[in-house]
Amino acid sequence: MSKSIQIAVVGSGYVGLVAAACFAEMGHRVICVDNDERKVAALENGDTLIHEDHLPELLARYRGDGVSFTTDLAEATRESEAIFIAVGTPQSESGDADLSYVEAVACEVARSITGYKVIVEKSTVPVYTNEWICRAIERHGIDRSQFDVVSNPEFLREGTAVADFLHPDRIVVGADSERAADILEAIYSPLTTGEYYQRPDAIPGVCSTAAPPPLLLTSTKSAEIIKHASNAFLALKISFINAVSNLCETAGADVEQVARGMGLDSRIGPRFLRPGIGYGGSCFPKDVAAFRSVAEQLGVDFGLLTEVERINAQQKKRFLSKIRSALWTLRGKRLGVLGLAFKGGTDDIRESPAIDLIRMLLAEGCHISAFDPAAVRRAIEVMPEGPALEYADDAYSAARNADALVIFTDWNEFANLDLERLGKTLRYPIIIDGRNLYEPQAMAEQGFTYLSVGRATSYPVRQPAAAVST
Ligand code: UGA
Repeated sequence: MSKSIQIAVVGSGYVGLVAAACFAEMGHRVICVDNDERKVAALENGDTLIHEDHLPELLARYRGDGVSFTTDLAEATRESEAIFIAVGTPQSESGDADLSYVEAVACEVARSITGYKVIVEKSTVPVYTNEWICRAIERHGIDRSQFDVVSNPEFLREGTAVADFLHPDRIVVGADSERAADILEAIYSPLTTGEYYQRPDAIPGVCSTAAPPPLLLTSTKSAEIIKHASNAFLALKISFINAVSNLCETAGADVEQVARGMGLDSRIGPRFLRPGIGYGGSCFPKDVAAFRSVAEQLGVDFGLLTEVERINAQQKKRFLSKIRSALWTLRGKRLGVLGLAFKGGTDDIRESPAIDLIRMLLAEGCHISAFDPAAVRRAIEVMPEGPALEYADDAYSAARNADALVIFTDWNEFANLDLERLGKTLRYPIIIDGRNLYEPQAMAEQGFTYLSVGRATSYPVRQPAAAVST
């Protein structure tokens, strides 16, 4: 039976809140700290703040009995053996990660240290952050024997964050001291021993008692780099396939076939080879920029990352040109838009390519009716309704009388639309799909002009004229 450990998680964003709920699910006692009183009050009152599968049920299960919420970091520090820092590391003007929140937490923790603590970086941070946290704590007069700083990066994806946390491909622990490594190993032991997966109420996923996740012990610096390098590599994979999709369009090939053929090579793998309108979200754009900036500061030439970013920005512009190519001119055109979130399954619109493209289309003089199953509320905050922009209640309302329908986000429900109904709802049966959710041939048979990414445009199949009898 694994030991229950008292943990503080600082920051109740995607990473912090999911980590807090999952640590409780693993049998630990968790204090979730946030300096935003409204957030803490909302969490105490049963709100989950973010749209994430399994999170409502886990918080309902452990709220007040396994997870508590507070604004009091000092007390949480005194009571906890391990303090996970999961606060934001936003991008600064130069592309660097802004670490002021991490520093503020480290200093507050330092002021409250009473006995040995392990302080864990869970936020995505550049290499050397660990050393800075150590220095900041030592400056408060705390002896090195009283604490260790460990890097334990998180690889969860929004939308599947809880399952990713409890069924990880790997757990990375960067620790330079055995004492700290032991505590982290104990925290994750319900997963690494497979004990958790024996429970009948365990959240389902890919790991099992027979195949538990591995825990990789590294130096702190290696762990910090593993996180940035992993995200940058995944972004690179996406930019690569997007560049290939452009080549396919020009050469008359089909990028979906190319991606399938590449992905069957086990050294390449099929995942993150989906072409589209470019990657977005709160992680990839920020982390690629931060990693590039780290390389620059260390005097290392990593121009590949600049190219990854360039291709990503270019991909949105190419898609705008594609919309234009379908409609001849854009000014005054009415477009139904499906998708505001940066990907399907989330209400997050941070760095969403959909939002960027809507702004570009509005600047071109289009009228837009947009729908998203979860992200409308957040989109309204940054793009209020106006004479040229309205939000629709469903996909068909967005399509009503539109000159074309544009798909920006890969929600499952957008891949299963009633095409006959859609054809009757649109003013012209034109669909421009930035996520390749449909087969071009099938769309042609349904009577649509269908443009997608990295594949030839398909046109409505006409019924053959009746044979003329002689
Ligand atoms: C990403 C990583 O996948 C996680 O491992 C990591 O923990 C997380 O960042 C983080 O650093 O916190 P996330 O941002 O939630 O997770 O989203 P992804 O599913 O990775 O998608 C990122 C973007 O790439 C989305 O805009 C998505 O539409 C796009 N994408 C993804 C593609 O265009 N093609 C693909 O094949 C895959």
